[in-house]
Amino acid sequence: MTPSYEECRQSFDWSQSARELGYEDGQPINIGWYCSDRICEQGLGQKPALIWEDNGGREATFTFDDIRDRSDAIAAHLASLGIERGERVCIFMDRLPELYIGFLGVLKLGAVVQPLFSAFGEESLGVRLENAETCCVITQMKHVRKVRRARKTMPFLRHVIVVDGQGKDLKEGESAMTMTELEHPADFRCAETGPEDFSVLHYTSGTTGQPKGAQHVHSSLISQYITAKWVLDLRPDDIYWCNADPGWVTGTSYGIIGPWANGITQVVLDAGFNSDAWYAFMARHEVTVWYSAPTAIRLLMRDGTELVKKHDLSSLRHLCSVGEPLNAEAVIWSEEAFGKPFHDTYWQTETGCMVITNWPGMKVKPGSMGKPFPGIEAAVVDPKTGEAITEPGKVGIIALAPGWPSMIRGYRNNQAGWDKKFLNGWYLCGDQGSIDQDGYFWFSGRDDDVINTGGHLVGPFEIESALLEHEAVAESAAVATPDTVNMEVVKAFVVLKPGFEPSDDLDLAIMNFIRKKLSPLAMPQQIEFIDQLPKTRSGKIIRRILRAQEFGEDIGDVSTLMNDDD
Ligand code: PRX
Repeated sequence: MTPSYEECRQSFDWSQSARELGYEDGQPINIGWYCSDRICEQGLGQKPALIWEDNGGREATFTFDDIRDRSDAIAAHLASLGIERGERVCIFMDRLPELYIGFLGVLKLGAVVQPLFSAFGEESLGVRLENAETCCVITQMKHVRKVRRARKTMPFLRHVIVVDGQGKDLKEGESAMTMTELEHPADFRCAETGPEDFSVLHYTSGTTGQPKGAQHVHSSLISQYITAKWVLDLRPDDIYWCNADPGWVTGTSYGIIGPWANGITQVVLDAGFNSDAWYAFMARHEVTVWYSAPTAIRLLMRDGTELVKKHDLSSLRHLCSVGEPLNAEAVIWSEEAFGKPFHDTYWQTETGCMVITNWPGMKVKPGSMGKPFPGIEAAVVDPKTGEAITEPGKVGIIALAPGWPSMIRGYRNNQAGWDKKFLNGWYLCGDQGSIDQDGYFWFSGRDDDVINTGGHLVGPFEIESALLEHEAVAESAAVATPDTVNMEVVKAFVVLKPGFEPSDDLDLAIMNFIRKKLSPLAMPQQIEFIDQLPKTRSGKIIRRILRAQEFGEDIGDVSTLMNDDD
């Protein structure tokens, strides 16, 4: 049971979490070991760790003994290929058991695991593999063609492992690995990684440049373990479902590490969104704790409460949400539909763990993100001075005092980008918000041009660079436009090259071009052809004017923006 917020706020120190984990300073710490071997050592080896289903009706259950043995075997297999500690191994596949167990295997080898969303096209995949200098990609037949195209220019990418590649036509440098047939290596020893050794490499989008590689370390476990336990209110008999994909940080911090480090049974559904199927899945497995996202909740709302009542969801005890603003209506609806509110949580790829949360048992103010997790010092600061704003309700930049265990240690090969995140001793989240008189945080919006579509961040630069590769595009600007379900979707303003005329066919061709190259998330849902883009005096595109137009906001004095060339 989660203790009271006030009690924890006063006495909490991260070392309390380390103590619960049995971890002492100076010892090795390996997330793979803590998520499997340690749970088995506690006598829970026979407990289901992963109950998996796909939309084709296939099912599989893996106990903690199974995930320990299979992750050992994967680690040994990677070592037999010559993959070494510290090298980057990408997992690029749908939500197959091999993704979850392979994730632990890569970590047990001491290598860095780079999970990438399987809907990425070859270009999105390529820039991330390039930046990480990834030595191995573990994938499935369905996605191998994208890997083949991306790796043509990557001599560092030595191995492509195909988990369902047995008996298939594989090319040079590719090999099959059937997880269930790998022999358990009797003499396997998990890598004795240190607390500061890199563990997970997630890519996140900013306004400028290509996505940044957020470097997590093994001691992030200390934050992820206790936040999962308390904020998700995890208890030993829980059946937990996090519907996020491990290509994104929610799907690893709370879809693998947090729950398994607590010895909790997780269910995974490898299928797209479908309200009826989701409810049936939760009813079938008697899910007790569910971590979801506002876009999914809005889609469920659209299908109404009648559908909810058709299913026995009485097992549900605690609901949480992350990724985008959880509007008050969604909280109120969930009370009506499930008899309990969704608890909003706020955090980022960079924070590694939840930092502002609606604590179990604490009063929920619908529409608020809650209060800082004990052990996290959060504020709202003036964007120019970095001084904390004390006036209730006044909007500033959400900021955190650095130093909690799961804060990333930087962006890979991008020290300048990381340095820019700090001001006056604060880590700046890049979001605007305010704090009310009771200490609750309220989200106002992002402080940059990044587009948050359905809880996924998409960088305008990535889209604009890809658009430039289309034969008809001379210049473009990608901005957010409002959407009732996804909160925001991508809209592209396009200036055509001479000789090309706007048409519906061209519209579609450009959309598809981006969908294939990048991903369905990055695909513009709308394209507007214009003669020229708003620019600063030195020629930088001012996306903010276009964005404000989309949201019907007042942009203020445009002439100041025209001088804005940082
Ligand atoms: O803008 C905020 C939004 O998502 C961003 C972080 O995205 P990412 O690094 O992909 O991680 C997503 C999952 C942890 C934030 O900077 N965001 C996240 N949670 C919330 C949110 N916006 C409003 N309310 C939230 N609860």
